[in-house]
Amino acid sequence: MRAERREQVEKIERLKRRKNAIILAHNYQRPEVQDIAEFVGDSLELARKAVATTAEIIIFCGVDFMAETAAVLNPEKKVVLPDKGAVCPMAQQLPPAVLAAAKREHPDAAVVLYVNTLAESKALADCICTSANAQEIVRAVAKAKDASTILFGPDRNLAYHAQKATAAKIIPVPEYGLCPSHHQIVLQDLERAKAEHPQAKVVVHPECIPEVQDRTDFIASTSGMVKICRQQQAGEEVEGSAVAGDEFLIGTEVGLLHRLEKEAPGKRFYPLSATAVCPQMKMHTLEKIEAALESEEPVVVVERGVAEKARRAIERMLEILG
Ligand code: 13P
Ligand code: SF4
Repeated sequence: MRAERREQVEKIERLKRRKNAIILAHNYQRPEVQDIAEFVGDSLELARKAVATTAEIIIFCGVDFMAETAAVLNPEKKVVLPDKGAVCPMAQQLPPAVLAAAKREHPDAAVVLYVNTLAESKALADCICTSANAQEIVRAVAKAKDASTILFGPDRNLAYHAQKATAAKIIPVPEYGLCPSHHQIVLQDLERAKAEHPQAKVVVHPECIPEVQDRTDFIASTSGMVKICRQQQAGEEVEGSAVAGDEFLIGTEVGLLHRLEKEAPGKRFYPLSATAVCPQMKMHTLEKIEAALESEEPVVVVERGVAEKARRAIERMLEILG
């Protein structure tokens, strides 16, 4: 590590101790941000960590909806988003008015929203889900509410994945909600990568398009993807003679590669698309984290009435998961 970088990291560590602060980072964060975080994980794990910590300040290195979720679950803690421009474009695709109109059109439908939504929309939902549990949640909500229809938003690709787990009809709201970064991963990428690495296993995120989901070996949340790659044993026999298990084709935002390479050394990881980058996830830098620790700003604030309703929908998910 360069001397300048080492000094900066030491300063951040001192500030964290002095202020009783921790850094939570999503799996897509820049490598140097992941490396100084107390915890790196997926949306569900970060929400759980935010509740479990005794720190008074959470420096949240992720996007807005993740920091909002942490704030909603922890009204007594200060949640700081180092760059307030880190706004998930998918979450913006479902404004509360659009969801309210869909609810009027389908008054008997249950409403399950992906955690990648605005707090104002979460406030109108029966239950929240994450990529780690969408199938389990739609199954449980359909049963508990005896619902034959579920409004599900904003990601139509996650809706496609969730639909496989329930007989209830899932209606995506809006019709064309998607993640611009995962949308870049197309079938040709998968076919080319498979031709180049025929023995590799394919592991993708459920925000990928259905055509990619249908041709993968595994679908999981970002941390679920890491777990799968770690567990797959090198030297496993596939189709008689080929040795597989130590090569993986990764279908998600490229930031996950850092964690994979760190936690599964010796295995090889190839992104399905090197251009699957989420610019909003890369906005937090060590400079901005240091400034956020110094100033304790910008704080993430969710209006109390909205937060209370959104909290109920998030807690419903946590209850179902047990
Ligand atoms: P995970 O919860 O799987 O980390 O997904 C969050 C996300 O925004 C993926 O694009
Ligand atoms: Fe949002 Fe996609 Fe970025 Fe995840 S990768 S934060 S869904 S834009």
